[in-house]
Amino acid sequence: MHKHKGAMVQKKALITGVAGQDGAYLARFLLDKGYEVHGLVRWDSYVAKRDGLRRLNLLEVLGPYFSIHYGDVSDAHNIASVIKSTKPDEIYNLAALSHVQVSFDVPASSFDINAHGILNILEAVRCLDMEERVRIYQASSSEMFGKVPAPQNEMSAMQPCSPYGVSKLAGYHLARLYRESYGLWVCNGILFNHESPLRGEDFVTHKVTRYVAELEHGYQKPLSLGNLEAIRDWGDARDYVRGMWMMMQAEEPDDFVLASGQALSVRAFVDAAFSSLGYQIEWRGSGLDELGVDAETGNVLVKIDEAFYRPLELDHLLGDASKAKDILAWKPEIGFEQMLRDMIEHDRKIISLEGNGDG
Ligand code: GDD
Repeated sequence: MHKHKGAMVQKKALITGVAGQDGAYLARFLLDKGYEVHGLVRWDSYVAKRDGLRRLNLLEVLGPYFSIHYGDVSDAHNIASVIKSTKPDEIYNLAALSHVQVSFDVPASSFDINAHGILNILEAVRCLDMEERVRIYQASSSEMFGKVPAPQNEMSAMQPCSPYGVSKLAGYHLARLYRESYGLWVCNGILFNHESPLRGEDFVTHKVTRYVAELEHGYQKPLSLGNLEAIRDWGDARDYVRGMWMMMQAEEPDDFVLASGQALSVRAFVDAAFSSLGYQIEWRGSGLDELGVDAETGNVLVKIDEAFYRPLELDHLLGDASKAKDILAWKPEIGFEQMLRDMIEHDRKIISLEGNGDG
């Protein structure tokens, strides 16, 4: 049971993309700090209440100090009117078309949401003459680094290799530009991959943990995956939303990398997830014919499906978060093993609820 500090409400926050993984954790974090929180959700999430607001329900966010506003950051009038009516002290722009592979299929929508979205917020704050009172957090991404050699930090070059990465880079530069030219208080959080029990199931980590948890109920068909060689720096979303808030409390607006500083290949993640429930994978074959076989039973647990390959892949992300450590005193508290355990435990619970008809 969460308690709000009630009468002590000092700040108001507006979170766009509040129904997503980071939005839900951030809303919970800010409510626990005594904030009044306003969350922007798209109409389709709003009407599909059961699914769309699932994460907010799980974290007990819905309550007297939390209000939902439906709308869309890509609609300039809508976001301006929400900012005008809620008068936030802090705006966290987390709304995004966040799936990298999907951005290859719908590049224009990626741009509308990821680049126009932040532009609409910056312009709204400027035109409403709110630049003196509002601080803005822009969710930038390590996907902006693209092909640049690891480790990456705030000084690294950026050569994105997906429509998602390019749109995020445009958003990053717009935020920086409005800070430098109009004096808006805007910071960019350049976040490396961050996972949790609330991660969407179309991202590779949760796709894998869900499959592993389902195995307990009997073997079905193999899990289909794409490129196993990509290397990612996987941290925990709960640490990263705390980092977002710390950036917004800094004396000066600035850009910060948040990362765990440790990287693993997708293959190593798969091995770790299976072995945490006692399965040992033997990899056989290569390329599209490669199979991950249960060393004990010979069941095929993983196969490769070309459909999950991207037209261009980002090979190696490894973040250097020294600046956030030095200036903000931020450091991750949840290690890889705990994150994996929490994800699998959560999936086991959800699967058993679904089995009871409660899912
Ligand atoms: N989604 C997915 N599904 N990815 C797969 C699969 C699969 O079946 N098989 C292999 N992969 C590989 C992808 O090719 C990629 O190299 C890696 O697994 C991670 O993919 P995702 O989990 O989809 O995350 P991402 O790295 O593309 O993007 C995430 O991190 C970014 C920060 O670096 C997202 O959260 C982005 O929104 C975020 O900005």
